[in-house]
Amino acid sequence: MSSKRELAEAAMRRSWFPVARTADLDKPVAATLLGVRLVVYRDRSGAIAVQSRRCPHRGGDLSIGEVHESSIACPYHGWEFAGADGACVRVPSLADQSRIPPRARIRTYPAVERFGHVWTVLEEPITEMYDPEEWRDADLLWLAADPIDSPVGVGVTIENFRDVAHFPFVHKVSMGPTPEVVEPLDVKRDGLDVWMFRPLNAGSGEWANDGDCMMKYHCIAPGLASITYEYAKFGVRVVAGFPSPTSYENVKIFWGVANARDYAGASLEENLRVEEMVYLEDLPIVEDLDPREIPWDAEVEEFSVPADMFTLNYRRSFLELMRRAG
Ligand code: FES
Ligand SMILES: [Fe+2]
Repeated sequence: MSSKRELAEAAMRRSWFPVARTADLDKPVAATLLGVRLVVYRDRSGAIAVQSRRCPHRGGDLSIGEVHESSIACPYHGWEFAGADGACVRVPSLADQSRIPPRARIRTYPAVERFGHVWTVLEEPITEMYDPEEWRDADLLWLAADPIDSPVGVGVTIENFRDVAHFPFVHKVSMGPTPEVVEPLDVKRDGLDVWMFRPLNAGSGEWANDGDCMMKYHCIAPGLASITYEYAKFGVRVVAGFPSPTSYENVKIFWGVANARDYAGASLEENLRVEEMVYLEDLPIVEDLDPREIPWDAEVEEFSVPADMFTLNYRRSFLELMRRAG
């Protein structure tokens, strides 16, 4: 019988994760997803490819290769692989191109551009690509942040992103004093989706003067965590985190902010600056957590209180994902 940890990893191999920012694709980008080494690039025709990074000739690193019209060329001996299916389409040392080894090809994965990032999935997907309903009609403009490496798993990262009881301890500077007591949380779960609605209590920090605001927290297992802020004064803005597992216990946190096209508050750049300040306060706490991923197999004992209601529901959604994979 598989351990839950093994099921969690199997489920993630069949779930969508970001592997690059769209804005970085002026040249090939190296990525790693659950130990699989990838190259992400936009070819000259505009199509995006996510492929195995290793050249099957002698192991050249395609992420330092050259992009052509609809292929990528290895930096070592120039073999070219098609973006569409990874087939080797040219071997420069061959006088007769019909002699290309017929099985020479690189593995090619799905590539979807969304929320300022390129997303892929390693194996047969068990989930749809994320498409939160509250964003569909909002006409959002995205700004992707610098990704952050963190030595913990996806689950721990999502739990931190949407935990509320840590604000008065970890975010004293960015949020100012906030109440320690957590009100009964308004949490709903449906399948892989978990929501929570909460008025913004901005304390005296950076957000204090922005007026009434309802926050819609929305997590989708395994890897999306977001807050959609609905300000009475300004309209809708979003912050979202998409931790992507480079290995089971290490993530690259891709994340970003979005403003509705008619948002009347601060600019994307300013919102990113403030949210980044919040993130950077979390990092030193989160990177020392023990264990480094949710203890699915009860390998350590944990105690929970009502303030953990959102994270407990996220765990249920992740368990449902594991059932789909198992
Ligand atoms: S190693 Fe890639 S072309 Fe030789
Ligand atoms: Fe935090």
